[in-house]
Amino acid sequence: MSFQSPHKKVTLIMGSPRKNSNTHLLLSEAARALTEQGIATRFFFPDDSHITDCQGCHGCKQESNTRCVIQDDMTALYPLMESSEGMIIAAPVYFGYVPAMTKAWLDRLVPYIGADLRPEFPRPCPVSFIFTQNVPDPALFEPVLRSFMDSVAMTGLVTRDFLIAPDCEMGVKPPVTERPDLMHRAYALGRDLLGDF
Ligand SMILES: Cc1cc2nc3c(=O)[nH]c(=O)nc-3n(C[C@H](O)[C@H](O)[C@H](O)COP(=O)(O)O)c2cc1C
Repeated sequence: MSFQSPHKKVTLIMGSPRKNSNTHLLLSEAARALTEQGIATRFFFPDDSHITDCQGCHGCKQESNTRCVIQDDMTALYPLMESSEGMIIAAPVYFGYVPAMTKAWLDRLVPYIGADLRPEFPRPCPVSFIFTQNVPDPALFEPVLRSFMDSVAMTGLVTRDFLIAPDCEMGVKPPVTERPDLMHRAYALGRDLLGDF
């Protein structure tokens, strides 16, 4: 898994299991803004990937090894993330948090956190977040979603922006493509990701 482009690169983590869902649509809109700037994007779908749960083995904390010792689809994702100028993480709210496959991805970021909790992601890298939820109140889950974002930032990734899209239920409520406010926010989130970095 690698970028073919000499241009700037952004990795997009699509943390919903549903393709062409509201989460995917908003992430694609952010990707469109990046593409329009000549930035290469690469989607990663945790639900289509084999991500073993972190075993807490601390293999990545051995002096001889700063990498996760588990060989699965994260093995190729680590260098992809490390070679990116930016990242966008998108996920729906499932029972008040991110879905299990997104949490599995988060847990496997532990190689980027030192034993003393020092951030060890190898380069300055901005990250923005897109969340979707059914509940109309965008503030309801914000504290837990901030906790998720803070966990990602423990690695050294720098939180740039986030969008919480409320009132989303594909097939029941209008899709986000019929909600220009959300589409514009997603586009702006992608457009501004790399900003001054
Ligand atoms: C298992 C499951 C749990 C969910 N839990 C919540 C929840 O706690 N709060 C909420 O507002 N929406 C919840 N939803 C609704 C989704 O967050 C919402 O429909 C979201 O837009 C789905 O993302 P998608 O467009 O990628 O399918 C849940 C949906 C599922 C399938």
